[in-house]
Amino acid sequence: MTVRISLPNNSTMLSKDFIYGVATASFQIEGGAEQRLPCIWDTFCDTPNKVIDGSNGLIACDHFNLWQEDIELIESLGVDAYRLSVSWPRVITQSGELNQAGVDYYLNILDTLNSKNIKVFVTLYHWDLPQHLEDNGGWLNRDTAYKFRDYANLISQAFGERVHSYATLNEPFCSAFLGYEAGIHAPGIVGKEYGKKAAHHLLLAHGLAMQVLTQNSPNSKNGIVLNFTPCYAETDSDADKKATSFADDYFNQWYIKPLYDGEYPAILAELPQAHHPEILEGDMEIISHPTDFLGINFYTRAIYRADEQEQFVQIDPPAPRTDIGWEIYPAAFTELLVSLNKTYSLPPIYITENGAAMDDKLVGGEVNDLDRIDYYHNHLNAVNDAIEQGVDVRGYFAWSLMDNFEWAEGYLKRFGIVYVDYDSQVRTIKASGHAYKALISNR
Ligand code: FCB
Repeated sequence: MTVRISLPNNSTMLSKDFIYGVATASFQIEGGAEQRLPCIWDTFCDTPNKVIDGSNGLIACDHFNLWQEDIELIESLGVDAYRLSVSWPRVITQSGELNQAGVDYYLNILDTLNSKNIKVFVTLYHWDLPQHLEDNGGWLNRDTAYKFRDYANLISQAFGERVHSYATLNEPFCSAFLGYEAGIHAPGIVGKEYGKKAAHHLLLAHGLAMQVLTQNSPNSKNGIVLNFTPCYAETDSDADKKATSFADDYFNQWYIKPLYDGEYPAILAELPQAHHPEILEGDMEIISHPTDFLGINFYTRAIYRADEQEQFVQIDPPAPRTDIGWEIYPAAFTELLVSLNKTYSLPPIYITENGAAMDDKLVGGEVNDLDRIDYYHNHLNAVNDAIEQGVDVRGYFAWSLMDNFEWAEGYLKRFGIVYVDYDSQVRTIKASGHAYKALISNR
């Protein structure tokens, strides 16, 4: 096991221009729920048996109150950038106007980060859809895409020049598939006929917001964040390979191909008509609006085999695995980046999330998470390997700054490089946080 994070001496990731950051998301850390409208995750948390530990986001890491201390923590890590998300239900009222108190909350954060020369990467939608929009159909309703555009318009005007980079959406796959097809994320809707409809409206929302951002914020880098779980066939059989390629199109390519090729994968024709999204004239042009960057989130891979009934089945991930059960397989990270770079004509890439849940123990005021250091070491080197093979990666964000509300897993899974004691709200930098800091400051 490595006790430090290191890169080859000649790595371009050791240049000062390569951006290192930490990432969080509004619902996962903020709390401050009384100062915003309810969102779909509040409702989901209130529904029995949805979140494993029965927890919610009402307080979370209390970042709503502790943001100043948290920015000092970010600064102490020596990072170049901080990726945060804006809570839509905090900044927009039910009638669609700016909620000035909510906007001021973020303006203070942005100004403080800017005063410390920490670049701000803002994500406009990290899954906390206002509940009143869900009551009108949420992402199954095309109108939500226009509501998102209006929100993007108002908030980008309010933020002015304070933002280094805007991402429209975080991981539309998760919103669409986990939220509206598998039902394991909010709003918990189940049905194969819903996933691709929700996905289309999310991608449309992205394209509409890109138009607005290009207009309102021409000096920031504007793009989107996609997650990828590369698909591997269990065997070399034709059946397994075909099933795996279908899964890859269904889960991964579905969200990137429309952005850069202006069309959905060809498997659309194989899906039952009732599962098809309604694509109106001009939609694909809007969706494929040029982006200044592509954000990529990577955690693990998935292995598939062919199946008579279903198109494909995923087999249980082999060891080694993290505490959330995800296989640790850094080679897939390199292969993913190289293959996306070959397949599409891409803008510069930022790794907007990468990290691991580990079974951390706070002992004597320290968390000695050597397993997480190992994960970061191997995955940063996997990124470096991709760069050596010609991929234009400009930055890397650790997920996450601190332990937080891990969606359907509640507070049981810890992804932070900073440990959070949820009773006292005391933060403790883990060994991985110190290792990350050392990597960054030794450039
Ligand atoms: C990603 C999410 C992020 C976090 C990590 C572990 O899918 O974007 O909020 O939960 O997984």
